[in-house]
Amino acid sequence: MAESMKGLKRTHRCTEVSNKNIGEAVTVMGWVQKRRNLGSLIFIDLRDRSGILQIVFDENDVGAEDFEKAETLRSEYVVAIVGNVTRREAAVNENLATGDIEVRATRLRILSDALTPPFPIESDTNTKDELRLKYRYLDLRRPNLQRNLMMRSKAATLIRTFLDEEGFIEVETPMLTKSTPEGARDYLVPSRVHPGNFYALPQSPQLFKQLLMCSGCDRYFQIARCFRDEDLRADRQPEFTQVDMELSFVDVDDVIEVNERLLKRLFKEIIDVEVALPIPRMTWQEAMDRFGSDKPDTRFGMELKDVSDIVKSCGFGVFTGAIENSGSVRGINAEGQGSMPRKKIDALVEFAKGYGAKGLAYLVINDDGTYKSSFAKFMTEEELNSLVERLEGKPGDLLLFAADKNKVVYDVLGALRLHIAGELGLLDKNTFNFLWVTEFPLLEYSEEQGRYVAMHHPFTMPMEEDLPLLDSEPGKVRAKAYDIVLNGNEIGGGSIRIHQNEIQEKMFEVLGFSKDEAYERFGFLLNAFKYGVPPHAGLAYGLDRLIMLLAGEDNIREVIAFPKVKDASCLLTDAPNVVDDKQLEELCIACTQMEKDMKEMSE
Ligand code: AMO
Ligand code: AMP
Repeated sequence: MAESMKGLKRTHRCTEVSNKNIGEAVTVMGWVQKRRNLGSLIFIDLRDRSGILQIVFDENDVGAEDFEKAETLRSEYVVAIVGNVTRREAAVNENLATGDIEVRATRLRILSDALTPPFPIESDTNTKDELRLKYRYLDLRRPNLQRNLMMRSKAATLIRTFLDEEGFIEVETPMLTKSTPEGARDYLVPSRVHPGNFYALPQSPQLFKQLLMCSGCDRYFQIARCFRDEDLRADRQPEFTQVDMELSFVDVDDVIEVNERLLKRLFKEIIDVEVALPIPRMTWQEAMDRFGSDKPDTRFGMELKDVSDIVKSCGFGVFTGAIENSGSVRGINAEGQGSMPRKKIDALVEFAKGYGAKGLAYLVINDDGTYKSSFAKFMTEEELNSLVERLEGKPGDLLLFAADKNKVVYDVLGALRLHIAGELGLLDKNTFNFLWVTEFPLLEYSEEQGRYVAMHHPFTMPMEEDLPLLDSEPGKVRAKAYDIVLNGNEIGGGSIRIHQNEIQEKMFEVLGFSKDEAYERFGFLLNAFKYGVPPHAGLAYGLDRLIMLLAGEDNIREVIAFPKVKDASCLLTDAPNVVDDKQLEELCIACTQMEKDMKEMSE
């Protein structure tokens, strides 16, 4: 039977015991990592969230009864041990904080026994993700996940302290609310009191934080849970956390300045990395042209080069056709990859197709300076030489070209550049390259909806000098929006907001909303502005992404205690799940899924 803790009080966490405590009695509690029997001695590694401490049971110290108990200990049993700290006589372990000491037990209590865990509790694991997430409470015992959770907590505390010092006040905004326009699908919550009506869980606190500026809060922040029903990826979860902020009476530089100091403090104090300020800035257009991405990873080169001018009248229809179609031809230089076997090049072509390319043209510069290429036969020697020169090709290099509409060319080469860098090991996890990407397009045309949609959200301020274009060429208007990018990850984004009614109404007009529609959806904000609104701006970080990068992890699941998997389900709790008919009845909801399934089956 499990024993109680009665009469015992923990004095130290495992690694709080050190060689300074030699000669002292301590009481420690934790989980058995492993047990070894060595003749008349039993050793266990005791683990808690701080780390590992070696315990020795010697019958002469601990007595026959407790020694017998020690013989029954197995992995993951929870124990309390009273003992004396001594210097290790043998097997000093340099890798452990407590590697030169051990505790010689004088008392043992088994507080809980344990089933054999379905996987070993160790930092490195090749346990399948499904199993890890089903038993997440065990998974979270692994030292690296414990470290991630502690790092997250420390970072959140530091952010709070910093923002408090900078005059931000923390305000909570509702979870049960009306849809916020961040572009993803909403999670809906049915109302019992208003049958047929739904709340939406917030995609972000955007509208509320703008209202708080109208309320005179001046500087707001919140570490806020956000919900977006979108496809999951390594850097996306359906519920995630933003460090959300909004400031009154500021412009772009003010928001950037305070956030740069926040990032500097955070990276210094959490992982001892110096962030050089100011963080470089790059316009969206330059980011696309040079890196094919609005979140460029600047840890390596392999930049895109536009070669449209060189090939515009060449004999290769794929190239000229794209240019005639108001697209472009661009290339990257995979330096030193000229000897890549054909099979691997073919794999790159397939990879490119996954990003919408119709093909990928390549040119190898042989060691003797001659070329091997999929399109040389359509080009003059001079054209080929110009291509090589534009891409700064040297013998041994592999040049890759994509021809298509600009968007496709950017997507394909942007992704290819990252893919090749990954394969070549150019993505150094210990380098932290920050970048502000500015001057995003205000709008993008949605083929699907047949209208312009806001790239950020409809409350983002256009750049003053582009205002006249709102009528004539809305697609060319740039926004006062900025993203903060770290090593190719968008860790945050924000904008200056529209606070002038005329501009806001114009914006809605361009987005295809009638005045009535705009008021129906966002009337509470637009009306609030009529009562005196300060110019304001803000930004939100994806906290999970930020911690993922601080922790050197590749997936945000590793820094979220209870994450969801790709189909947005939770393997631990089996959410989402069916509910009682009675619950549905109260909500006046009928589930049509069964009818739908039947219909599909009969079709
Ligand atoms: P945005 O939509 O860019 O801006 O979101 C801000 C940051 O949140 C993170 N993020 C996510 N992280 C994990 N999973 C997701 N599904 C997910 N979606 C977004 C990203 C992103 O940069 N209201 C605006 C901010 C503002 O204008 O102030 C907003 O929500 O790191
Ligand atoms: P094809 O004429 O389709 O056989 O293509 C000749 C070469 O051009 C092949 O190497 C294709 O992979 C490449 N190619 C085809 N379409 C494109 C494109 N849109 N951009 C770049 N290269 C392409």
